[in-house]
Amino acid sequence: MDLKGRDFLTLKDFSADEIQYMVDVAAYFKKKKKAGEPHDICRGKNVALIFEKTSTRTRCSFEVAARDLGMGATYLDPKSSQIGKKESTADTARVLCSMFDGIEYRGFAQSNVEELAKYSKVPVWNGLTNEYHPTQMLADLLTIEEVFGSCKGLKLAYMGDARYNMANSLMILCSKMGMHFAAGAPKEYFPDPELVKTCEGYCKESGGSILLTEDAFEAAKDADIIYTDVWVSMGEPDEVWEKRIKDLSPYKVRKELFEVAKKSAIFLHCLPAFHDLKTEIGKEMGEKYNFTELEVTDEVFEAPYSHVFQEAENRMHTIKAVMAVTLSEVKMD
Ligand code: CP
Ligand code: NVA
Repeated sequence: MDLKGRDFLTLKDFSADEIQYMVDVAAYFKKKKKAGEPHDICRGKNVALIFEKTSTRTRCSFEVAARDLGMGATYLDPKSSQIGKKESTADTARVLCSMFDGIEYRGFAQSNVEELAKYSKVPVWNGLTNEYHPTQMLADLLTIEEVFGSCKGLKLAYMGDARYNMANSLMILCSKMGMHFAAGAPKEYFPDPELVKTCEGYCKESGGSILLTEDAFEAAKDADIIYTDVWVSMGEPDEVWEKRIKDLSPYKVRKELFEVAKKSAIFLHCLPAFHDLKTEIGKEMGEKYNFTELEVTDEVFEAPYSHVFQEAENRMHTIKAVMAVTLSEVKMD
């Protein structure tokens, strides 16, 4: 499998075998890391990490993974660089690719990361856009395979805003990998019909399926994985909170949904999560709109079947795999 030189912008660009290969490489690196065995196969290279939105997991994953692979990493944000205000994406790409071996980008429109990739001579990795979050998908797949052994035929039920980066990406992942994707959401939060059509095409090949329903219990029925994300994403205005809470409350992930899922079902969330009031925004919104938890109850978040911190750790191993396979040749011993 040769992915050297490839961009990583959305999973639409990768076959099921290529996706599985990246996850296998991640599992290999995870084992090496746990055994304390060096795996600095990208020694001497350098990567640029552009973050136009905030991050904990993705930034730390890229930085730690780069170090483990023997690379230097430079973090750039719009405040401390010329990006956006004084320099276009195309010019930024041409400057950075003359100094770095790979560029990560987290920002707003998918077209920005695509523009960056168009003008860059080195691989560009999407660290999250409004439309897609592909590195998160590899971490989710690794976690699912660690728990269930394999992913084929499993049902993943996504609850909440199904038109944004997480649901879009999970629908692509499931349909590519032969999984059954169900979204529980109000109709106006269903994914873009064009993307659904594309994913239905993938399902024909993989044996997967897609169900969009306004009934949270129908979505959760017999699910192996129940997944949710924040109801208001980064970059969205404060004004949307009130309507979101009203519209998405029936899709809050709670114990009752697990009662109709498979007995072995697990809970996943990309994080960060509003499962209590121990955050600044959670507290402010909780007091304003009178709630104590949002997209998931604290009970589910803290339950033994919640694998969210394993999933978060897997961000690092999978991001390491993405950088390694696109920058170097990986030999798994
Ligand atoms: N899941 C995720 O992307 O987390 P961060 O926003 O902390 O990077
Ligand atoms: N939908 C969320 C995902 C965070 C990882 C956001 O874009 O803020």
